[in-house]
This record gives sequence, structure tokens and C-alpha cells, in this order.
Amino acid sequence: MRTDFLPFHVPDIDEAEISSVEQTLRSGWLTTGPKVREFERQFAEFVGARHAIAVNSCTAALHLALDAIGIKEGDEVIVPTLTFAATAEVVFYLRARPVLVDCCPRTLNIDPERIKRAITSRTRAIVPVHFAGHPCHMDAIRDIARRHNLAVIEDAAHALPARYRNQMVGTIGDITCFSFYATKTITTGEGGMITTDNDEYAERMRIMSLHGISKDAWKRYTAEGSWRYDILFPGYKYNLTDIAAALGVEQLKKCVRFHEARRQMAYEFNHAFAKLGALSTPFVDEVVQHAWHLYVIQLNLAQLAISRDRFIEDLKRANIGTSVHFIPLHLHPFYRDTFHYEAHEFPCATQAFERIISLPLYTRMTWRDQRDVIEAVQDVVARNQR
Ligand SMILES: Cc1ncc(COP(=O)(O)O)c(C=O)c1O
Repeated sequence: MRTDFLPFHVPDIDEAEISSVEQTLRSGWLTTGPKVREFERQFAEFVGARHAIAVNSCTAALHLALDAIGIKEGDEVIVPTLTFAATAEVVFYLRARPVLVDCCPRTLNIDPERIKRAITSRTRAIVPVHFAGHPCHMDAIRDIARRHNLAVIEDAAHALPARYRNQMVGTIGDITCFSFYATKTITTGEGGMITTDNDEYAERMRIMSLHGISKDAWKRYTAEGSWRYDILFPGYKYNLTDIAAALGVEQLKKCVRFHEARRQMAYEFNHAFAKLGALSTPFVDEVVQHAWHLYVIQLNLAQLAISRDRFIEDLKRANIGTSVHFIPLHLHPFYRDTFHYEAHEFPCATQAFERIISLPLYTRMTWRDQRDVIEAVQDVVARNQR
């Protein structure tokens, strides 16, 4: 057994990021400025989108996206129940209502058949989450959206770089939102990016991300800018700093290499666990490129004498950090009590929640670290198999 604790995640930061941040610190310009613009340009090119707008979180990105498509009081927005708090909470920012939908058992992504059943005359948008980095069934989702005149805002917090039918995530829905939170596939500590091909949405989101102030507000303290500005709308304070963008520019350069390393590690896990009947490895549809942000196993509880929680405790005792993505929203007190959701209305997510464990999967892990994870999982299974 390993003697030191293997954390669930460690960001991959080296001298390139440190010196990039140092240069920005020495440049005299800390907040939104040339580094943010460089990061946006490079990100837009990387995913192939017309516009990329950097913000200080994916939560901010989702809020701005819903604002840009005109979500307002009384509207309904369809979101998966198996997601993080952010996906649904932003709907409340606009006094609208998130309508929770169950997932598909294999991918754990939102179920298009159940989306259809959740649509009412008040529905305005669908927010699919590419769970763990596996793109959702976008053909079906786009088809439903077209038929019902709904916008598609992708929560791609997990999905960089991912493809659906060879199309980069970031160029599929009306607007796509990415996260650069510390555990994500590339990080700026906290941060996010919005991509869209729609000029009007892009302009609105850019203006709203910085107090609703007219174009290029960030230039007002530069030689080329002017002290004069106009407030066009009551906006938000969601801009990314140049310090964070200095990290982002360097991380983006490594995105493909990071992805290849995670893909290889996922392959090693799949191979090592293939013969364990007590758990299922992640399903990957042949039409997608999985971003491998998370490696989520599903326990086959009928073959085990212990619960998922005990499995996690045993892994922790073996010095392996894990996590659970996610506690479905309908099981949280706020959603349960406000909307009277019952667990049986979301059979897939409710059952999946009892079985899922996210194993450590990141580029800072050595082959020895990965072998420790594999051996610990195999050992817990061997000791508790029915
Ligand atoms: C699916 C999903 N959406 C949105 C977010 C929010 O991202 P951020 O922390 O950048 O606001 C997260 C964060 O973990 C997430 O997992």
C-alpha cells in the first residue's frame, strides 16, 4: 500500500505558467487587458468558434449565456439533474425555473427522450452538460431544440477538448460555456470561456460581463482608450484578469498533450478493470472524442458486500483520494423541498448516485500512482466480492 496520500487532483503547472504570470505581474497591467485578448483569440482558434469571451468562471459564463438569449421571469430551462449546482442556479439569477431531467444509464448524460417530456409552453432553452467530458447526444438535442424553437446552451465545464461527430464542442450549440476551475482539464485557478458564432449574443455577453459598459470598457485606462464610457445595461462584474489569462495561454498550449495523457490513462484503467464484474468502466460512444476530465466507475452493488460510501472509505484507507460527481440536484434539500421532486422521478440518476466513484485522473500522476489506484480498487473488490 502507498504510504502518502494520492490527492484526487493536482493541477499541472510548471515554469512556463510561472514565468508567464510573472511577466504579467511585472507588466503593470493586472486586470483584463492584452493577455485576456490573446487567450480569447487563441481559444476561439483552438475550438474553431467565431467568438470567445473570457470570464471569471463557468458559472458566470452560463449566467451571461442565459441572459443573452433573453431568459426572463417565468421561463423554464431544461437542465440535467446529474450536474453541479452552477448549471441550475444561474437560471434562478434570471428569475426563471430550472426543470430537472434524468440521465441515460450508460453515459450519464441528459436523456433526450426525457427532455421531450419535460417541454412545456414556457420552455425556452436546454442546457446539456457533457458529463465527465463525454459529449451529449447532440443530434437528438439539436433536433428537439429546432422543433420547439429552443436555444441550446452547452455546459462544457468538463468538455475541453471534446468532439461530437468530429465537431469540436464549442461550435455545436448556440453558446458553449467552459470552466478553468482548478480541477479542470486546463486551469486558470478560477475562470471560464464562452464561445459562440452569433455576433449579437457575443456583443451582449461581452458588454454584460463588465458592468454593461459600452465596448472596450477595459481600455479606459490605456493610452488608446478614453475615460468616457456609457452604461448600456445594468451588467455584472465577470471579467477575467490578465494574471489568470497568463496562466490560461500557457495551459491552452498543452491542452492536446494533456488530453492525450489522460486518454492513455483512461485506457490503462479500462484495461485493468475489464475483468472486474463488480464495476463498470466508462462507456464511450464511437461518435465522440471524450475529454476525459473525469474517470467515473459504476459499482455493480449486487456483486459487492459493501456500499459505495464504504468503497470510498476503503480507498481512502489505502491512501487514494476520490470524489463523487455528482449528488443529483433533485436529492438536495433546496430542490427537493421547493419543487417536491421525488427520487423515483429520476430513476437513472438516483440509482447511478449510489454506484458512482470518480477515480484520480490527471497528468501529474505517475504510472506508479496509477498502478496504486488500480491495485487499491482491485484489492477492495477482491476483499468484498459476494
Ligand atoms: C458541470 C459543471 N458546470 C459548471 C461548473 C461551474 O464551473 P466554475 O467553477 O468555473 O464556475 C462546474 C464546476 O465544477 C461543473 O462541474
